[in-house]
Amino acid sequence: MTAPGAPGNGAVLTVDGLHAGYGAVAVVHGVALRVHAGETVCLLGRNGAGKTTTMLAVAGACKGARGSVRIDGRDVVGLAPARVAAAGIALVPEGHRIFRGLSVGENLRIGAFLRRRDSRAVRQGIAEVIDLFPALRGREHQVAGELSGGEQQMVALGQALMASPRALLLDEPSAGLAPMLVEAIYGAIERLRQRGMAILVVEQTVDRALAAASRAYVMEGGRIVLEGDSEQLRHDGRVEAVVLGGAVSADS
Ligand SMILES: Nc1ncnc2c1ncn2[C@@H]1O[C@H](COP(=O)(O)OP(=O)(O)OP(=O)(O)O)[C@@H](O)[C@H]1O
Ligand SMILES: [Mg+2]
Repeated sequence: MTAPGAPGNGAVLTVDGLHAGYGAVAVVHGVALRVHAGETVCLLGRNGAGKTTTMLAVAGACKGARGSVRIDGRDVVGLAPARVAAAGIALVPEGHRIFRGLSVGENLRIGAFLRRRDSRAVRQGIAEVIDLFPALRGREHQVAGELSGGEQQMVALGQALMASPRALLLDEPSAGLAPMLVEAIYGAIERLRQRGMAILVVEQTVDRALAAASRAYVMEGGRIVLEGDSEQLRHDGRVEAVVLGGAVSADS
């Protein structure tokens, strides 16, 4: 049997030799990763390691990215972000970015723009999001900016789901949230995984990420320096060494 992370093993999302950066600044150097259907994989690394840049490049939102990003075998590198989204990759960026002045329902409908053209499918999509996040029930007409941070993260995730993606990229979904809301978000992530979604999640909290994911990649200086099963990496002291490094107290 081929190892889960091995190439050619029917991964939904396959990234190889990915290079990305900002203008003349090269940030991501030859990243390769796999995410299969029904699998949650995490991407770890300290501040500035290149996690967000990797996510942006996979989603087509980092101009000039090179290499290979395949979704269900189809290469999408170099396509406009909207076309990458239409191919089945959805990114929920850091900091639950939604339209705070629009209602919950309007935010969700924006996510449906690419794929769901008939209103019945849109209503069905909204019902699915509310089923996933009961905290949003009855609040479709509420202005999203009035929601708590965790509820806004639910709307951001819901907006991404409205496009019926095959692969979901989540950049620090639990950042700044109270523990109960983190549980709600991760509970939803697990239900999506069980339904066959391929999920790639960036987190700063090593324990949280390894608990949610079956496999993990660890980045340093724009490269993957460690990868393996979460269970195995949980007992590998190198993970903390790379992720925490010498910059532990910088944020406190
Ligand atoms: N818009 C930008 N223009 C130029 N350089 C950038 C830009 N965004 C990020 N960088 C640089 O790219 C590098 C990687 O940043 P990135 O945001 O990918 O890291 P990260 O691993 O997501 O970090 P964090 O954990 O802090 O979110 C950093 O050195 C950063 O300064
Ligand atoms: Mg980041």
